[in-house]
Amino acid sequence: MGSPADTSKSIKVERYKRYIRRVNSTKLLNASSKLLFRATLLVALILVFLFTFNYPPLALADMYSTQRHLQAHSHFLSSGAWEKQLRHSATPRRPNGLTVLVTGAAGFVGSHCSLALKKRGDGVLGLDNFNAYYDPSLKRARQAMLAKHQVLIVEGDLNDTPLLHKLLDVVAFTHILHLAAQAGVRYAMHNPQSYVTANIAGFVNLLEAAKSANPQPAIVWASSSSVYGLNTENPFSELHRTDQPASLYAATKKAGEEIAHSYNHIYGLSLTGLRFFTVYGPWGRPDMAYFFFTKDILQGKSIDVYETPEGKQVARDFTYIDDIVKGCLGALDTAEKSSGSGGKKRGAAQLRVYNLGNTSPVPVGKLVSILEGLLNSKAKKHVIKMPSNDGDGPYTHANVSLAFRDLAYKPTTDLPTGLRKFVKWYVGYYGLQTSLKKDIPSA
Ligand SMILES: NC(=O)c1ccc[n+]([C@@H]2O[C@H](COP(=O)([O-])OP(=O)(O)OC[C@H]3O[C@@H](n4cnc5c(N)ncnc54)[C@H](O)[C@@H]3O)[C@@H](O)[C@H]2O)c1
Repeated sequence: MGSPADTSKSIKVERYKRYIRRVNSTKLLNASSKLLFRATLLVALILVFLFTFNYPPLALADMYSTQRHLQAHSHFLSSGAWEKQLRHSATPRRPNGLTVLVTGAAGFVGSHCSLALKKRGDGVLGLDNFNAYYDPSLKRARQAMLAKHQVLIVEGDLNDTPLLHKLLDVVAFTHILHLAAQAGVRYAMHNPQSYVTANIAGFVNLLEAAKSANPQPAIVWASSSSVYGLNTENPFSELHRTDQPASLYAATKKAGEEIAHSYNHIYGLSLTGLRFFTVYGPWGRPDMAYFFFTKDILQGKSIDVYETPEGKQVARDFTYIDDIVKGCLGALDTAEKSSGSGGKKRGAAQLRVYNLGNTSPVPVGKLVSILEGLLNSKAKKHVIKMPSNDGDGPYTHANVSLAFRDLAYKPTTDLPTGLRKFVKWYVGYYGLQTSLKKDIPSA
């Protein structure tokens, strides 16, 4: 038997080769890791370079964009021609005329009040952000109508602090009629933040600017009958409780009344809150029932008419716009001067709240039948129970004795007369004269 072949040498060679392969692959791995690391470092350095020299740091991006906005804005604000336009619009044309900043001037109530003030010789400057809560083209049409009467509306937001300060610097307003707000009760369930932004933050921003002005203007502002919320005492009086709002809208208006109290107390601002009751009329708001009922009846669409859970009709104290305008002007005319100046209180100042309603609630069914008569069309009524969380109570009814005593407020327009004027405007504005079977008789 021969001895076995000597394999130990070849095994060693094989092991050595495996070792060399391992060493090589480790080297390769190290080399590629280093390459990857260097490449990553290079990319990171390039990015840092780009962000440092071409862009603001991310955390400051918002600030820079705001600054860019303000730079663009201040360019606009420093224009002498623009300031001249503001002063022209705000200069009274009668002895002892008021100089009024009207916020929400492109809105329903704001446009009527601006026109009435201008017509009697007061100076008026408007402010409005022309938001799209309802058709902005209606707001633009109101703006155009006011422009014909030399009333300028500055396009801007209540929350634009530099703009507000600029307006109060350029013009020494004697009064502010603050009507800008997010209105509407049901929309609060879809866009709650818009109520907080406009009705609370925006109001505070306006009061901050007004308290710092020298002289401080007196402020008349729109609260709402909605503050009565779940109150069941009737008719609603300013002495009744208003701490049970039934909607976020109402809660923001009630918050406004409390905020007004604090600015009056701390800074001596003269403040008058007006609780409007369902205002209607020409140039009205498309989100309100009388307006969209008119549209739907003319288009042959069915309309939802609410009744209470007990089967009773829902009723509203519909108040005609001209009566509301008289109430607003009465409040402006009787507002005492603010007592402070430049942010310092110098004594007690006036603080008031008034109901401005019509004092005669009308069931919504009656509203529909008046519209049917005016439009010569039968409504397709769909009577449904009012949801329990609707945001509005089953009826509103104003006691206006306080406003009568202090503002000489006396509503004079009943619903049939006011609706006739509204329908006349509606068919004219939307060019529908020919689609009506008969003329709307003049009031
Ligand atoms: N019409 C009513 O029946 C009624 C009832 C109670 C209270 N109110 C109150 O009366 C006031 C006027 O109501 P209206 O019916 O004329 O409403 P409106 O919506 O027609 O007018 C409000 C105007 O304010 C503007 N606006 C809103 N937010 C703004 C902001 N942040 N900055 C600048 N402008 C802004 C809107 O663009 C609009 O043109 C509101 O305060 C409303 O809450 C109205």
